Amino acid sequence: MAVQKRVLSIFLIQLVLLAVSGLNRVDGAGLRTGYYDESCPDAETRALKTIRKAISKDVTVAAALLRLHFHDCFVRGCEASVLLNATKEGGAEKDGFLNLSLRGFDVIDDVKSAIEKSCPGVVSCADILALAARDAVQLTGGLFWKVETGRRDGRISLSKEIDANLPFSNFNITQLKQNFASKGLTKKDLVVLSGAHTIGSASCLTINTRLYNFTALDPTFASELKKKCKPGGILPVFELDQGSSTISDAHFYKAVRQNRGLLISDAALLDDHATRAYVKRQSTSAAGATFGRDFGKSMEKMGRIGVLTGSEGEIRQRCALVN
Ligand code: HEM
Ligand SMILES: *[C@@H]1O[C@H](CO)[C@@H](O)[C@H](O)[C@H]1NC(C)=O
Ligand SMILES: *[C@@H]1O[C@H](CO)[C@@H](O)[C@H](O)[C@H]1NC(C)=O
Ligand SMILES: *[C@@H]1O[C@H](CO)[C@@H](O)[C@H](O)[C@H]1NC(C)=O
Ligand SMILES: *[C@@H]1O[C@H](CO)[C@@H](O)[C@H](O)[C@H]1NC(C)=O
Repeated sequence: MAVQKRVLSIFLIQLVLLAVSGLNRVDGAGLRTGYYDESCPDAETRALKTIRKAISKDVTVAAALLRLHFHDCFVRGCEASVLLNATKEGGAEKDGFLNLSLRGFDVIDDVKSAIEKSCPGVVSCADILALAARDAVQLTGGLFWKVETGRRDGRISLSKEIDANLPFSNFNITQLKQNFASKGLTKKDLVVLSGAHTIGSASCLTINTRLYNFTALDPTFASELKKKCKPGGILPVFELDQGSSTISDAHFYKAVRQNRGLLISDAALLDDHATRAYVKRQSTSAAGATFGRDFGKSMEKMGRIGVLTGSEGEIRQRCALVN
């Protein structure tokens, strides 16, 4: 009888544990801030140092790093699939159409090498992407947030998975909301994370439809852009947040509100009452103060999408190759 009871209670405990781990799986169980405090205490300082150096040489690297983490998380989750090279089996995410102008791979490799020197095989490339995105924002004047770590690296990267997972720049507000919802993100996250376009640039190719086939664009601004970007043109690139594209701040929302958002997807934020209200609030400088905090919160959420933890995946030795 006693034995039966014990077996039953062990069974029940296991059931509860299973249920708890099943629940947490959805929201990033296994991640925590300071995950490497014991196993690699200087990981974050080494990352910051390397990234600071890269950004001081070329400030546009900051935007590239922020975007890499986004592209990583939206395809297969935040497990560094965006960094993998193609294999014999086919193209990797890097080779998909929306890879267009992804940059910063060399900086991630430099951070990885710097960290491997003090603790080989401990820190994942996926975590380096998350740390780099945070450091990039902080180093361009944005607010600091604590990054949860403990992600592990995946082993698969397929170019054919890009189109079904990343939002296109010509998406309307309905499509944007759907895409974000499919990743567990709300429309608040959508309007907040679109604020990433406070830094960086987009190519003439990207904005061609917006310039030549889209109406809600400030006419003075449009004619300036059209001088440099002809129909069907590919280059040059243009600041996503005109006049403030090297500073992480709420100025982007001012541009959007004035119909000077560069992407169709940025302009679409005015087509939903809640996202429109957020754009309005952040575009007045006093309220813009909440953007920094909002952004950190939404980035933390984004950083939990589909993570691999515990014994899943691996810690890659080189970020472009599986072990
Ligand atoms: C809401 C849906 C989004 C769409 C449709 C979108 C689309 C794009 C496009 C088309 C570009 C320009 C690519 C080029 O022409 O070179 C771009 C750039 C960029 N995106 Fe997004 N994006 C979105 C959300 C995000 C999010 C959530 C983040 C980060 C959290 C982000 C970060 C960036 C950054 C930093 C750049 C500039 C990159 C550089 O200068 O190298 N974007 N995005
Ligand atoms: C990954 O591919 C790039 C571009 O083809 C190449 O330059 C790089 O050396 C490759 N990385 C590794 C680790 O093989
Ligand atoms: C993006 O894909 C194209 C092929 O579609 C490839 O030539 C290019 O090297 C890729 N870019 C990066 C950054 O890997
Ligand atoms: C958004 O685009 C989809 C697909 O093209 C279309 O079915 C839908 O009507 C559009 N919605 C809005 C609000 O424009
Ligand atoms: C521009 O818009 C028109 C009408 O909606 C459409 O027929 C045409 O294909 C579009 N052209 C481009 C280059 O997007």
